[in-house]
Amino acid sequence: MDVSRYDIDLRSDTVTRPSPGMRAAMAGADVGDDVYGDDPTVNRLQAFVAERFGFERALFFASGTQSNLAALMAHCGRGDEYLVGQEAHTYSYEGGGAATLGSIQPQPLDNEPDGSISIGRIAKAIKPHDIHFAPTRLLALENTIGGRVLPPEYQRQVTAFAHEKNLRTHLDGARLFNAIVKLGVDERTAVAGFDSVSVCLSKGLGAPAGSVLLGSRNLIDEARRWRKALGGGMRQAGVLAAAGIYALEHNVRPLAEDHANADYLARGLRELGLKSEPPQTNILYVDIPESQTEQLSQHLEERGILATVRTRTRLVTHLDAPRAKIDIALRAFRDYPHWDL
Ligand SMILES: Cc1ncc(COP(=O)(O)O)c(C=O)c1O
Repeated sequence: MDVSRYDIDLRSDTVTRPSPGMRAAMAGADVGDDVYGDDPTVNRLQAFVAERFGFERALFFASGTQSNLAALMAHCGRGDEYLVGQEAHTYSYEGGGAATLGSIQPQPLDNEPDGSISIGRIAKAIKPHDIHFAPTRLLALENTIGGRVLPPEYQRQVTAFAHEKNLRTHLDGARLFNAIVKLGVDERTAVAGFDSVSVCLSKGLGAPAGSVLLGSRNLIDEARRWRKALGGGMRQAGVLAAAGIYALEHNVRPLAEDHANADYLARGLRELGLKSEPPQTNILYVDIPESQTEQLSQHLEERGILATVRTRTRLVTHLDAPRAKIDIALRAFRDYPHWDL
């Protein structure tokens, strides 16, 4: 797809492009061979993120999918099982990597409307010690999940419960900074109770690539081995890590604007008579009548707006879609001639 034809891309926050400042940081990065552990910028990013989140170690990955998979493989052995939400990225949208590459069995569980998985449901899913069952090793959660922030009290209870049952806990925090900004908490509070956390730099934070996995020294040693086996050992990766450091230093606070823009967009859509719940962060959903999805998609495209239009359409705000562009998008929705609401 030739995206240069489109001014506004609301498909995801992954579409953000590196800003001039970020590009300058990348161009000026000191580099070395990171497979040897020699890249000073990667090392700086890892130390910075580990310290900020209060973990012993951090490890830089090319993507969130790879970081999550290496974490699952570090926690679970062949034939083990992890508990995960039906809606979770690590279950539904990572190509089945845990099963196919990790030999780890997912046990998917329904998510509640707020994105959590009820503790009762988790309790029932933990398998007894019996040769008929895959040993349940890990609980994997996601925050934010579909733009929803996991309730902190739930996080406290569910991680304590998992540990009581001898389960490890992993958090897919691809958009954890959205939750941090929304809750107004610090990084350490946001990850309390998790044994490992994967944080993406390439979503709302605007870096072109990169995720960081956090964990204990032992877990990260194990994850480093799996990263290599998965083909994820990068050499002069400091050019990417520099973008990540820049993102953490400059692009966390602006997430609040993305949240305000998502709320503004949802309100505008509701004023048109469309159904769109107030979003908690930068992801909103709007119901579109099935009969209109194709024509609406075309209408938006003709106005330079990219969106994945479905009966439940997800729209995502980000750094490259400031308020002026949201206004243009709202105007395009308003001008659509075929609403029959
Ligand atoms: C919640 C969540 N987790 C993980 C990922 C995977 O990240 P990546 O695309 O870098 O592999 C994504 C990607 O969109 C995501 O939305």
